[in-house]
Amino acid sequence: MTYGSYLKLDELLALQQPRSAGPEHDEMLFIIIHQVYELWFKELLHELDRVMRLLEGDEPHRAQHTLKRILTILKVMVAQLDILETMTPLEFLSFRARLDAASGFQSDQFRQIEFVLGVKSDGAIRRFPDGSRARAALARRHREPALWDAFLRYLSREAYDVPRSHLARDVTAAVEPSPEIQRLLIEVYRRDPKTAELCERLVDLDEGIQEWRYRHVKMVERTIGGRGGTGGSAGAAYLQETVGRAIFPDLWAIRSQL
Ligand code: HEM
Repeated sequence: MTYGSYLKLDELLALQQPRSAGPEHDEMLFIIIHQVYELWFKELLHELDRVMRLLEGDEPHRAQHTLKRILTILKVMVAQLDILETMTPLEFLSFRARLDAASGFQSDQFRQIEFVLGVKSDGAIRRFPDGSRARAALARRHREPALWDAFLRYLSREAYDVPRSHLARDVTAAVEPSPEIQRLLIEVYRRDPKTAELCERLVDLDEGIQEWRYRHVKMVERTIGGRGGTGGSAGAAYLQETVGRAIFPDLWAIRSQL
C-alpha cells in the first residue's frame, strides 16, 4: 500500500475538468471548492449518522463529542467561502455560461443533511431522476427519523415526559415548533445541566448551518448581484428566504422564557 494507492490519488486528481475554452483560470478553483464541499458533506453525513446511533444507544457524552467534530467541520466549511470570494464577478462570468443549469441547488448531499436535520420535503426528492443514487439516498433519509426525533426519544428514555404524539410523529414531515416540548426543554435547562449542554451543542449546529447560509448568500450577492441562479431560482432573493430559518425551533423559542 502506498499513499497514492490508499487515497486513490490518480482517480481523485483526474476529476477536475474545466469546461471553459482556454480554460479560464478561475474555473479550476470553482470546481475544486465544490468538490471539497461535497467531500465535507459526505463526512458530515457520516458523523450525523453516528450522532443518531449514539443517541439511540443512550451515549449522550459520545454524541456530544461527535457533535463537536461536526461543528468544527462546519466552521471550516464557512471559512472556505473566503477563498471563493477572492474570485471577482468578472472572473466568474468568464466561465459561468459553461455551467448551464448546474447549481449547488442540485446537491443531493446538502438535501440529505437537511433531511437528517428534519428539514424535509417531497419536492427535493422528485428533482432527481428515478433510479439515481441521489434519489435513492434521499428517499431513504426521508423515511428515517431526523436528529430531533432521536433526541426526543433519548429524552423520553431519560424519563422526560415527551408526549406520545411526538415520539410517534410522522418522521417524513418537517420538524415544527411545539409548546409542550418547549415546556419540557425549560425543565431540562433548569434542572439538568448535562442534558442542557447537549441542547446547546444542537443550537451550535443550528447556528452553524444558518451561518453557512448567510455567508453563501452574501457571496452570491457580491458575485452575481440580483441575477437569477443557474439552477433556475431567483438567486440571492430565494436564498435570503432560507437564512435565519431555525432547524430546531423549540430550542430557540425557549430562550426568552428561561
Ligand atoms: C460563485 C459561487 C457561487 C454562486 C454564484 C452560487 C450561487 C447560488 C445560487 C444563485 C443558488 C440558488 C439556486 C439557483 O441556482 O437558482 C445557490 C444554491 C446553492 N448553492 Fe451556491 N453558489 C456558489 C457557490 C457555492 C458553493 C461553493 C457551494 C458549496 C457546495 C454552494 C452550494 C449551494 C447549495 C447547497 C445551494 C442550495 C441552497 C438551498 O436551496 O437552500 N454554492 N447557489
